[in-house]
Amino acid sequence: MATQEKVSEHNLGKIISHAKEYGFVFPSSEVYDGLAAVYDYGPYGVELKNNLKTLWWKSMTQLQDNVVGIDASIFMHPLTWKASGHVDSFNDPMVDNRDSKKRYRADQLLEAKAEEYAKAGQEEKGHALLVEMGRLLDAGDLNGVREQIISEGIVCPVSGTANWTEVRQFNLMFSTRVGSVAEDADTIYLRPETAQGIFVNFLNVQKTARMKIPFGIAQVGKAFRNEIVARQFIFRMREFEQMEMQYFVRPGEEMKWYEFWKETRLKWHQAVGLPAQKLKYHVHEKLAHYANAAVDIEFEFPFGFKEIEGIHSRTDFDLSQHQKLSKKKMQYFDNEINQNYVPYVVETSVGADRLFLAVLCNAYTEEVVGEGENQKERTYLKLHPAIAPVKAAIFPLVRKDGLPEKGMQIFNQLKQDFRVVYEERDAIGRRYTRQDLIGTPFCIAVDYQTLEDNTVTIRHRDSMEQERVSIEELRDKIAREVSFSRIYEQL
Ligand code: GAP
Repeated sequence: MATQEKVSEHNLGKIISHAKEYGFVFPSSEVYDGLAAVYDYGPYGVELKNNLKTLWWKSMTQLQDNVVGIDASIFMHPLTWKASGHVDSFNDPMVDNRDSKKRYRADQLLEAKAEEYAKAGQEEKGHALLVEMGRLLDAGDLNGVREQIISEGIVCPVSGTANWTEVRQFNLMFSTRVGSVAEDADTIYLRPETAQGIFVNFLNVQKTARMKIPFGIAQVGKAFRNEIVARQFIFRMREFEQMEMQYFVRPGEEMKWYEFWKETRLKWHQAVGLPAQKLKYHVHEKLAHYANAAVDIEFEFPFGFKEIEGIHSRTDFDLSQHQKLSKKKMQYFDNEINQNYVPYVVETSVGADRLFLAVLCNAYTEEVVGEGENQKERTYLKLHPAIAPVKAAIFPLVRKDGLPEKGMQIFNQLKQDFRVVYEERDAIGRRYTRQDLIGTPFCIAVDYQTLEDNTVTIRHRDSMEQERVSIEELRDKIAREVSFSRIYEQL
């Protein structure tokens, strides 16, 4: 059948509706009208996200000879966040519009203005604006930032006025209290990154797993940030998941490993199915105080190229800070060079939710199929079979004559190895459509011929082509297509 790609800009609205309608992502506590920037994953969303996390976990631990994992707690001793710098400087500058009562990030208002200049061919003007903003923020001159907003004529998109409050620093950490009575209570934080759980466990892991530098520690877990402006669906959330790996290296060798991980991680995103032309590096010119090199891997979302992963050379900042505040040594004895030192760290940090969104945006496909009067539109998720939430759907052609029983037999056999579904309601065309919408790569139809010769039809999601195979072959055939090793082979 002739197919024709429909050239269209898939806007985010379509993706959000699709995600909700077909059980991928729901607004949190929707019955109470939701909670800003907090989302729940539905039956297919949780499968897709778990597949991405497992894939990351295996490729960062099992496939590496010198990376092990941990699962640290969300709550940590409050001094952790003093040492890491989050208590004092994990801030965003915020400003409110007095008329609309809407809150904005002051830096984002100015960045949007700089983008406007760039679009109008005035890149230099935009660049100068950002340099000046950087200087003012570094100097803590928030009044100066406010004056910039006003002198640039920036108005609130809701009220249309420039009636701005003072610019204030807003710490992004959520705090809560531990202790049974108020007087005992102590302020603790919900971790804003998973990395610190790795740093404070550096020696525990190194000693118990007998690791030699260079080695890495990987972790997947929740992180929390009280984002001022929550936008773009699951791109910027207040509760999200990170997949981070800290790679501990000899001081002076960090740039070699930084380059290694930079390349390795870009390749990984391509192997998962994100096309090379939709991925790019964004090298940080202005570095955080703890870093000596930093790059983002950006994906082209419907709203432009945005960060999905950060690779940072964090020097010995974190371990040295923990050594200072905890008064416990964070050193490693390197017997190859007979030296004690605080290791340097190269970090890879990818958001599971942002990766999920990138994969979903990339997979969402609208196509016109057929020709002439038989043309019709179809929508499907072109997910890599290894990460698809459901691997195969089993359909008896009709609900009689022993076909459902045969279908159930196949389902019971395949479910031992794969996430599969069995469906017998509705016309088979509608059943195919339902599976296309959630990205199921294979649909298996059981018909009268099946009863005669033990063969079934496999319908392939992307090409819609059908082939006849024996039931005996099914398991191996599906396994070959959906195995993570298909992805690993490309790494
Ligand atoms: N430990 C380093 C660190 O946390 P980051 O650049 O702040 O670095 C790393 O975050 C990744 O975490 C980002 O590339 C992004 O994928 C994800 N991330 C950060 N903030 C997020 C948010 N509010 N919502 C969803 N994902 C977020």
